[in-house]
Amino acid sequence: MLHSKTPDLFAAAYPLHADEFACFRLAAQSAEEAVWLFGELGLSGMNITAPFKSDMAKLSDVRAPEVQTLNACNTLALENGKKCSYNTDIFGVLGSLEKAGTPVAGKRCLVLGAGGAGSAAAYALHAAGGVVTVANRTTDKARRLAESLGCSYAALNEIAGIAPQADIIVSTLYQHVDVVDEAWLKPQHVVFDAIYHGSRLREKAQRAGCKFIDGAGWLLHQGAPAYRKLTGVEPDVEGMEKAMLPQKLPAHISLIGFMGAGKSAVAPVLASMLRMPAIDADAALEKKCGASIPQLIGEKGEAYFREQERVVLEEALQSATPTVISCGGGAVTQPQLGRLLKENSIVIWIYAPPACCLSRIDVSTRPLLAQHANPQQAAAELFEKRKFLYAKTAWMLVNSHCRSEAQVSQLIYDEISKVLHS
Ligand code: S3P
Repeated sequence: MLHSKTPDLFAAAYPLHADEFACFRLAAQSAEEAVWLFGELGLSGMNITAPFKSDMAKLSDVRAPEVQTLNACNTLALENGKKCSYNTDIFGVLGSLEKAGTPVAGKRCLVLGAGGAGSAAAYALHAAGGVVTVANRTTDKARRLAESLGCSYAALNEIAGIAPQADIIVSTLYQHVDVVDEAWLKPQHVVFDAIYHGSRLREKAQRAGCKFIDGAGWLLHQGAPAYRKLTGVEPDVEGMEKAMLPQKLPAHISLIGFMGAGKSAVAPVLASMLRMPAIDADAALEKKCGASIPQLIGEKGEAYFREQERVVLEEALQSATPTVISCGGGAVTQPQLGRLLKENSIVIWIYAPPACCLSRIDVSTRPLLAQHANPQQAAAELFEKRKFLYAKTAWMLVNSHCRSEAQVSQLIYDEISKVLHS
């Protein structure tokens, strides 16, 4: 059975060169873990999803005015060495309404939910001149938000008296919370559901003849200014919109990352959870060549080893059987192979700090480190050189520091399940 226990993920951006960025998902189980990874990896920014928008706001060094009001952020950007938080959800809400040709000024707006998304919606609508009422299950939360914005509030069970008179109804409630009675909806209503897959409100609104807006536009219009902040580059909004369309996911899963990150240990565990076979590229290579990796590199050189590594991985990626592939730590150094991995597999970067990686391996079996007088320093330097390549190739990063292979596998499994079910 597929299920999701991982509460969240973050998208991270990485400056490669002045005009090149690597973006990947970052699976973290708390805002603290994400901030730790942010510093460890030297990321330039993150886009943050629920439920850590408030925690992340608290952990930032500088908060934009909207973050101070909402106590929530969805964007963290490194500016002059400081973690600065912003809330571009506001643009998500207003951009979607504008695209749908719905003016806000002077309109009666009912916002359902006073969490991160509800707060941003209320803030945005109020700022655009809407007459806003926030309704929430916990009335106190709605009251606090309403007081900070200077708008009205209500309990969710009081909305029968408010919704029918509203012009715009924005729901930021969970999919299973069904509080809008179809009988309240009239064709003049605009109904906006923050949910972008499987909105229950959609059918009700459409049956009632209302204009319906789903959360895809919100996602897009918050993403564009966040991208601008994180990269300093003007976003290709049309391209972003196209990228949001359902995509066919590659069948294989490749694990990349530094030596000792845990790829070989995670691969069989993850594979058995997914009921897929696993292949360890290093082991397959040793079998194919009839020699150990230290022997191969020692006798025939690294270039020969890389050539063999490419052949083994190309073969694995061409297989018709979806497979979990554990790659050698240097596979991403071959640009053509990096591209092949990205095109033909869901690439997971397993990360642990180089010192932690080193503590997990027998350096004498890793010739690229063993040849140095100070393997610790060599590992740190090699990782520093490679981290951009891992970032560029990865679809998602998972942190294996202080986690067992079972825990890392579970995290990957949960994140992949989310994507397969969205
Ligand atoms: C290497 C990593 C090793 C192995 C070889 C080279 C590298 O694999 O392929 O020693 O260049 O990082 P693991 O990452 O499985 O240790």
